[in-house]
Amino acid sequence: ISGDQVIVVSNREPYIHERTADGVIVKRPASGLVTAVEPVMRACSGTWVAHGSGSADRDVVDAHDRLPVPPGQDDYWLRRIWLTAEEEQGYYYGFANEGMWPLCHVAHVRPVFRESDWEAYKAVNQRFADAVVAEARSEDPLVLVQDYHFALLPAMVREKLPQATILTFWHIPWPNPESFGICPWRKEILDGMLGSTILGFHTRYHCKNFIETVDRYLEARIEHEHSTIAFREKETLVESYPISIEWPQEEAMRNWPSVEACRQRVTERLGLPQDLCLAVGVDRFDYTKGILERLNAVERLLEKWPQWIGRFVFVQVAAPTRSALEEYRSFQERIERVTARINERFSRPGYQPVHLLAAHHEPDAVNELFRAADMCVVTSLHDGMNLVSKEFVAARDDLQGVLILSRFAGAARELAEALIVNPYHVEETADALHRAASMPAAEQRERMASLRSTVRESNVFRWAGRMLLDAGRWRLRARIEA
Ligand code: G6P
Repeated sequence: ISGDQVIVVSNREPYIHERTADGVIVKRPASGLVTAVEPVMRACSGTWVAHGSGSADRDVVDAHDRLPVPPGQDDYWLRRIWLTAEEEQGYYYGFANEGMWPLCHVAHVRPVFRESDWEAYKAVNQRFADAVVAEARSEDPLVLVQDYHFALLPAMVREKLPQATILTFWHIPWPNPESFGICPWRKEILDGMLGSTILGFHTRYHCKNFIETVDRYLEARIEHEHSTIAFREKETLVESYPISIEWPQEEAMRNWPSVEACRQRVTERLGLPQDLCLAVGVDRFDYTKGILERLNAVERLLEKWPQWIGRFVFVQVAAPTRSALEEYRSFQERIERVTARINERFSRPGYQPVHLLAAHHEPDAVNELFRAADMCVVTSLHDGMNLVSKEFVAARDDLQGVLILSRFAGAARELAEALIVNPYHVEETADALHRAASMPAAEQRERMASLRSTVRESNVFRWAGRMLLDAGRWRLRARIEA
């Protein structure tokens, strides 16, 4: 693989240039995909093709819509694709986020399938595929396709570059065949994805669901033993690669403000007493994240153990996301209403139990909050992996802090020393909050040390390394067979 050209394609770009009153600023998006793929690209260079979404994005690219990133470091190229408002509406908001997102998360929000969205989705997949082909400098680049925005792209690239090694990673869950079967274009989607050389999911369970879905709806030959699918005279390997984060460098960790300093800054900023139990949640404002269930659990905690009133504070950072969609706007309003209700019930002079910070936070601010907290609460109703849980663990070099983690997040399979909960069960989650708030320092240390060794070891380079190793093997095999 080394020496081969790497092209990543994703919808979300790793750096967003925004015009503000103070000039152009660069923002890092709240995206698990970007968090994971960016360090890999910094390490192997190449080109990243993505939607140019920032208000100043056009001002900083060259004549080929490219710019070197990260700003000031120039490790790889970002190639921006411009979408019209109609394309963005149909492909991104419509088919990807009103169709595929709820379809794959099975989170009780009914997927919407519009013919016009599907047409836009197909057209935009073709546009990105053309850009990948245009960026290719050889007949056999290594193309890393990211996520549910590009189910059709692998077969489109394969058609033009039959020798390419196409590695597609699906960052969200894959549902069972019955659930997936409601999609009117199920065959086209499966056919498009099977243009990949390797198709990666976070867990074995998602691989199994995918293979069963293909078995149900396509005439393909499945080799269960090798986890391969033969379709249109080519084979695809279906494998699980649990995604992760970049483990912070020793030097970066040494430069972090101490946990005490972080605690002080956070409590001062929010006007909180020092000697309280501080729980935090950090998510995009998305209905799959279980934010409502989490608030219900906080309310139940205060009801069931009134000794926490005045001493337990829950801070939820929620980055507004996909706000052009009604489902997301009404979700945010609902969370705001529930927050107000809980605060009305339990606030006392100088004390407010829930602080909802509905704003985008940059990575340093999130790290500060993680270090200030006594626990981090992740209660996704369904999540491919969830990297917030791993980021919290990485932030705690003091070996303190408790992770509460939904059993429906892929991360629960690796992070067994967290307090694992069913977020739909309010009582169980409230009990976990109480347990975390009362956990002795020694037990926290033991659990955190173990969590840290897991995340340090299974970091994002291991994720990418395993995929690239498999890709290398397949390339070799293809060359020998040719
Ligand atoms: C999830 C998806 C990513 C996406 C991210 C942020 O993690 O798997 O593909 O980038 O959410 O969502 P957004 O729509 O803002 O890119």
